[in-house]
Order: sequence, then C-alpha cells, then structure tokens
Amino acid sequence: MGRSGTLDQRPAWTREQLSEALGESALRLIATIAKRAHAENIAIYLVGGVVRDLLLERENLDLDFVLEGDAIAFACKLARIYGGETERHAPFGTAKWKLDSAAISNLSLGSEAIPAQIDFATARTEEYPAPAALPAVEPGLIWQDLRRRDFTVNALALRVEAGSCPWQMLDPGDGYSDILGKKIRVLHAQSFIDDPTRIFRAFRFASRFGFTIESSTADILHAAIPMIQRLSGERIRHELDLILREKYPERIIADLSELDIFSQIHDSFLIGMRSTGQLKRLREHMPQMPGNADDIARLGWHLLFSSIAEDDALLISARLGLTGDLSNSIAGFARLLSKVDWLGAPATKASAITRFLDGVSATALRAALICNVDDHAVKERMESYMADWRHRRTTIDGNDLIRAGLAPGPIYREILDKLRGAWIDGEIESGEQERELFLKLVKEAK
Ligand code: CTP
Repeated sequence: MGRSGTLDQRPAWTREQLSEALGESALRLIATIAKRAHAENIAIYLVGGVVRDLLLERENLDLDFVLEGDAIAFACKLARIYGGETERHAPFGTAKWKLDSAAISNLSLGSEAIPAQIDFATARTEEYPAPAALPAVEPGLIWQDLRRRDFTVNALALRVEAGSCPWQMLDPGDGYSDILGKKIRVLHAQSFIDDPTRIFRAFRFASRFGFTIESSTADILHAAIPMIQRLSGERIRHELDLILREKYPERIIADLSELDIFSQIHDSFLIGMRSTGQLKRLREHMPQMPGNADDIARLGWHLLFSSIAEDDALLISARLGLTGDLSNSIAGFARLLSKVDWLGAPATKASAITRFLDGVSATALRAALICNVDDHAVKERMESYMADWRHRRTTIDGNDLIRAGLAPGPIYREILDKLRGAWIDGEIESGEQERELFLKLVKEAK
C-alpha cells in the first residue's frame, strides 16, 4: 500500500512519496496545473486509475483531472500559456491537452517520464436515457462525478492543491477498503444495466489486480449479461481490444466465455479452450516475437477466432465493426486453419501452398503458426513459404510474352504462375530451363 492507513483514515501522501511514485517531472506538472486552477478559483482533482494505482503501488502516468468548473476552457488556457494542442469534446465537457516539446520546455520539466497528454473533465452527473445508451451529462460536483463511476476502486479522487501536501483523498464508495480486500464492487445496482461495457471492465480489472468480483456485484453482473446485446459493435470491440492488451488476456476471455458472454455478442461467437489456449501460447511466445503492442493485439484478435469458420468470422467481424482490413485478415486465418490437413499432406505441392498463402495476410500466417507450432510438417511448410517460396520470382515477364507474339489475356498470368510454380517445386533450377518451359507453354497456348 502506498501509505499506511486504517480503514477509517484514508491514506495521504507526502510530497516525497508522490515524487517517488509519479516522478519529479509529473509532480511538477501536476503542481503547475494545480496552481493555475487555484488562480482561476477552480477546485481540481486527480481521479480514477492514477489514484487507484497510487494505492496499489502500480506505475501509472495517465493523468485524469476532474474540475468543478469548465474543463475545456481550462485546458485551452493551459495550452495558451504553455503551448501544446487541445482536443475538445464539447458534449461531454472534456478536453485533452497534448504536450509538445515547446510546452515541455516552457513548463521546465525534467528529463523523467511525463504523459504525452492530460485529460480534463468537468465534474458531471449522468442520466442514462435507456439501458446501454450513452448518458446525457450535466455539470455537477466531484462527489456526484465519483458516484456515477463503474467501481469503488475507480471512484477515488485526490484534491490537488497548489503548494500544499498531503492531498485529501475522496472515496465515496469506500474503494480503499475494497483495494485492501481485493474486491471489484459497483457503486450502485443499476451500474451494469446503464453501461454493460462494465461487465468486460469488471473481469479486466479483476484479472489485472488479482481481485475477485464481490458477490452481490457478481449477482447483478450476471443479471445484466443480456444487455450486452444492446451495445454497439464499436463499444464491444473497444473492450475486447483492451482485454487483448492485458497481461493475461486468455484468463479474462475464459471468464467471459464461462458466462456465455460471447454468444450475447453474436450467436456464432464460440470461444473454446482452443482460443484461450492459443492466446496463452501467444503470451508465452511474446518475448521472442517482433512487434509492438498493436501488433500483439492484432494477433490476439486472430487467435480469438481460432474455433470459428470463415463465414461466421465475417458475420462476427461485421457485428463488431472491425475494419475491412482486420476482418479480411481474420477470414484468411479461418480459411487457413480449415486447410491445415491439406497443408501438411505430403502430396500437396509447394507451389499450391504458395498460391494459397499468397492470399493470406502476414498476421494471419503468424497466428496460424502459433496454432500449429506442434505440427512439424505444417510448421515447416509455412516457414518455408515465409522464408523462401513467397519471394520466388520468374526471370521471364509480360514483355517476354508480348515478344513471343501471344495475345494479352488471362493466359499471361497463367503462364507466369506456372513458371513461378515450377521454380518453387524445384522442377526448374536455371534460367535456361525456365526459358525452355516458357517456350513449351507458349506453344501450347497458341
Ligand atoms: N469509467 C466508468 N465507466 C466506464 C468507463 C470508465 O465509470 N464504462 C470511469 C472510471 O472511474 C475510470 C475512469 O472513468 O477510472 C477512466 O476510464 P479508463 O481510462 O477506461 O479507466 P482507468 O481506470 O484509467 O483504466 P486503465 O487503468 O485501464 O487505463
């Protein structure tokens, strides 16, 4: 725990402790923001994940501020004084302040890590017009803003004050006790009905922190599961994407699957042991794999579909509003998995495999490799394709076909494809042999 404290006495941090937890630069940045708010006579609070993670002693520099005042005007003012850009969302009264190098220099921050952007929101109350709909928001007080939040452990705020520490902690749901007791608990019984994305969030946070979902919260969560059907594909996609970026995504996916949550998204969205097993494999292979967090999440998306046929994969992708590119890639992955026996069969020619795999994305191929690491024949062929076959080119091209007097048409592609296939299958091994075969094919075509 960041600071010793008893249940009825919320912890408070000294300046030194905050500097150690957040870094001197981030703390200086917070102090500058606090000073500005003070000058404007606005109460300002650090809220949500960063406060929770201070208590959990987990690194987190996602600075979210709530103001009892106009957050957009405040962020714009900071940008006018110190530089950087703002991105504003008027309907929700929120703004991002994006720090550029000029702002960092004007703020005289040190070399330690600072966030690239800072979020400001006007304290608000929320009214949900219908289950799973986006809320109508009204300006409110910090207490109201905290009470509308998902879980007690996220409904925490620190009142940051210019110059003085320790800062007071606001904790209307007794999230501090839940952090000590390792519980995910909602603040009110309507929480999952208002916002069923919280069902995904509950399992995500529980897994990340090693917490359990408190029993009455679990009851209302179970009752709200059918509400997932009302969520837009985009909101579900966002939640799944966040899950795939967690440390142990397969555990969260298994928890959700056990409650039949995927079938609420789409009837054919079946997640079996196969998908969770492959996600586990992905995690185990991650250290050896090239790629950033986006690449790994993209692979995760493919593996989530390990038990799903191509047609269904396309329907589910449409429900989730996946991009055309990702959806096609996942469809290719499903097609590839359905052809694994053919790929590994001794009679299947390298050229046929190449032709087939040329129609599959590199990510689909990597995902299929993860699924088939134990099948030596398949693995070897996919690796040969990646390292060798796919790079093979003919020396003869379209110009040679024109010179040979062949009328242009689909026959050009067929001949070039046969020549490439002959190289890949080892039927020809020199330019001379390629020309011989070329002349033979042209003669047959004429
Ligand atoms: N929030 C909420 N209901 C949601 C989403 C968010 O009440 N469906 C609130 C929570 O209080 C959360 C805050 O908005 O702490 C910020 O949301 P987000 O950035 O998603 O949460 P973090 O707690 O910062 O999560 P993470 O650590 O994954 O960034």
